Amino acid sequence: MESIEDIGKMAVIGAGVMGHGIAEIYALNGYSVSLMDVDEEILEKNMALLKSELKTLVANEFTTREASESALKRVSTSTSLEEAVDGCNYVTEAVVEKLDVKRKVFKKLEAAVTEDAILASNTSGLMISKIAEGLKKPDRVVGTHFSVPPHIVPGVEIIRGNETSDLTFQIAYDLIKKIGKMPFVVKKEIDGFILNRLQSALVREAFYLVENGIAELEDVDICLNSVLGFRWATIGPFKQIDSAGVDSWYNVGSYLFPSLSNSKEVPKPMTEKVERGELGMKKGKGFYDYSKFRIEDVIAERDDGFLKTLKLMRKIWKTD
Ligand SMILES: NC(=O)c1ccc[n+]([C@@H]2O[C@H](COP(=O)([O-])OP(=O)(O)OC[C@H]3O[C@@H](n4cnc5c(N)ncnc54)[C@H](O)[C@@H]3O)[C@@H](O)[C@H]2O)c1
Repeated sequence: MESIEDIGKMAVIGAGVMGHGIAEIYALNGYSVSLMDVDEEILEKNMALLKSELKTLVANEFTTREASESALKRVSTSTSLEEAVDGCNYVTEAVVEKLDVKRKVFKKLEAAVTEDAILASNTSGLMISKIAEGLKKPDRVVGTHFSVPPHIVPGVEIIRGNETSDLTFQIAYDLIKKIGKMPFVVKKEIDGFILNRLQSALVREAFYLVENGIAELEDVDICLNSVLGFRWATIGPFKQIDSAGVDSWYNVGSYLFPSLSNSKEVPKPMTEKVERGELGMKKGKGFYDYSKFRIEDVIAERDDGFLKTLKLMRKIWKTD
């Protein structure tokens, strides 16, 4: 493959929260996508979700009914990896965030795809070179890290592994631009990349505040929605420091940085939720309770908010 023009059929491996949405955005952009999962039930459930997400896109005028119907026709499903990748030269892996599982999937992919196929991982933060370790052609592996919901969130992190070739990187980058997303680049591998290092630092502090009785989690959410998230949608933290005054930040940082949480553990309430199977929207309960609602309606309400914000943000970023 020499450029994105050579990309033909695609496959997405793993049809969970991320995989079905990645298939959706590629299909909306004209690609035929084969969506694969080992779990038939997840494939069925998330194809239903994909259909209802397309309706929300239509309702918000992000696509037309005709285009959404064509996109849906371009997505096929399979429980066989070999069948899914047959004839594909661009594959995105979105299976569970476990290095051993991802490595096994990539080994299988390597054996099943054509010589020139590109293999992208949606890993949240595992190093690309570790995922590609032991492959014959690790230079064709790259990270394209979408954020939930991938069919809407504009930013996509592109990660260059130690062995990713310039061509692989460029094709992945150009593809992400072509589908209307905003790529940002991780030049050098590090666990968690840019996005999840920033997000996890903030979430660690959020848990610290809640666990120590300093705030209710709802108030932490309001703080982020109404102040930080609101501001960061327009200006990032560096411009925000400029806007507030670097000296002011310096004065606050002098006494505050030493008191921030530096815990090295996954927050206990998160561990407890996992043990109880309260995994969030996909299970009807997480830190909030969604059990009285249909998953399609919960997601539609979430997406409706995101799409209204995105419409406005595109004007501000001048990308509309
Ligand atoms: N959920 C998020 O917000 C988010 C955001 C960005 C990146 N990610 C990353 O995307 C990837 C997928 O996350 P998710 O949230 O969609 O997880 P998920 O648990 O919703 O989906 C993972 C899917 O992979 C399937 N699977 C497991 N082993 C498989 C195999 N060998 N072959 C094919 N399918 C297999 C599972 O059946 C499941 O449906 C992870 O690497 C995750 O870290 C997640």
